[in-house]
Amino acid sequence: MKHILALQTYLILAVAFMGEALPIAKSHSHTLPSYLRTPVGLVPHSAAHQVPVGATISHTQSAISLLAANGTALHTTPVVPGATNARPLNGNGNGNAKARREESGWVTFAAWLNTGESPIASFATSWTVPPAPAANDGQTVFIFNSIEPADFTSILQPVLQYGGSAAGGGNYWGIACWYVTPTGTYFTPLVQVQEGQTLTGYIQLQEQSANSTDFQYLCEWSNLGGYGLLVNSAELVWATETLEVYGIQSASDFPAGTTALSAINIATQETNAPNVTWSVAEDVADTVFTTVIVDGSVNALINITYPTV
Ligand SMILES: *[C@@H]1O[C@H](CO)[C@@H](O)[C@H](O)[C@H]1NC(C)=O
Ligand SMILES: *[C@@H]1O[C@H](CO)[C@@H](O)[C@H](O)[C@H]1NC(C)=O
Ligand SMILES: *[C@@H]1O[C@H](CO)[C@@H](O)[C@H](O)[C@H]1NC(C)=O
Ligand SMILES: *[C@@H]1O[C@H](CO)[C@@H](O)[C@H](O)[C@H]1NC(C)=O
Repeated sequence: MKHILALQTYLILAVAFMGEALPIAKSHSHTLPSYLRTPVGLVPHSAAHQVPVGATISHTQSAISLLAANGTALHTTPVVPGATNARPLNGNGNGNAKARREESGWVTFAAWLNTGESPIASFATSWTVPPAPAANDGQTVFIFNSIEPADFTSILQPVLQYGGSAAGGGNYWGIACWYVTPTGTYFTPLVQVQEGQTLTGYIQLQEQSANSTDFQYLCEWSNLGGYGLLVNSAELVWATETLEVYGIQSASDFPAGTTALSAINIATQETNAPNVTWSVAEDVADTVFTTVIVDGSVNALINITYPTV
């Protein structure tokens, strides 16, 4: 953990050029933060929407709408051509993106890009809720599997979080499903979970239109209450297993030990065992690691190791 402690000295400087760190720093001065933490960085309050039960998100080439169960548009935001998520990565967010250092953003992740003809039909990952971090410094820890379109303009993800986010939260673990775009952030209500509980986060292709341009996906947690998130969008092709954090001040702000992301199963419409190779992105200088222990699409196992205190 020496590395993080040494870096604390430089955090003030880092804030000057890491745009997304600024509003978090502001919150220490007891002003209402104008931005909220999400698993894709910071978003303005006005762009964050809780998804009611039965609602669907419709993401077309021109607009993103949150539709109530009866079809009424509850909220609509235009698609801004060329805009991608303000990704908390180094690089442009593609498969070659580099992970951030341990203080902020996507600090380590494994990813696979489906370049095949057959769309991903399901993507599941199971893990155990880790022990709560030993320290509470206003940090947020997000652990999730996620999937994005080829142009990286959105992300669908079942997210375990510790700390606060646009979905709420505090010094406890909670789960929600998220869909984040450059102009709108959508999440299901946060459901509190307990240390040691086993979680399974699913992303499932529900329907595909005859012309192959419209895909409907469901993000869901198994057996944990709450409800899923339905999204109509372009095909989602980039799968990740990610650890993301904000506001980390010491190693004690992470959980201790290792989180095993297990029973990672990816099926395409064509086969239950596509040729999947996970590539790891991490900052080799930091002390947070992702290790691919069992590669592939069937019961893959990827361990995230937190810094030692
Ligand atoms: C549709 O649902 C919305 C949200 O629940 C509600 O405000 C609206 O009145 C409903 N419209 C109709 C026509 O039922
Ligand atoms: C594809 O099909 C969907 C639903 O059937 C339709 O709404 C959409 O306009 C079609 N897109 C194109 C490019 O034809
Ligand atoms: C992966 O993490 C699990 C859970 O902490 C642990 O039991 C297992 O030994 C780890 N595997 C390796 C190869 O480190
Ligand atoms: C699987 O993918 C890897 C990496 O893309 C490639 O080297 C290998 O030849 C592929 N194997 C099969 C059986 O297609």
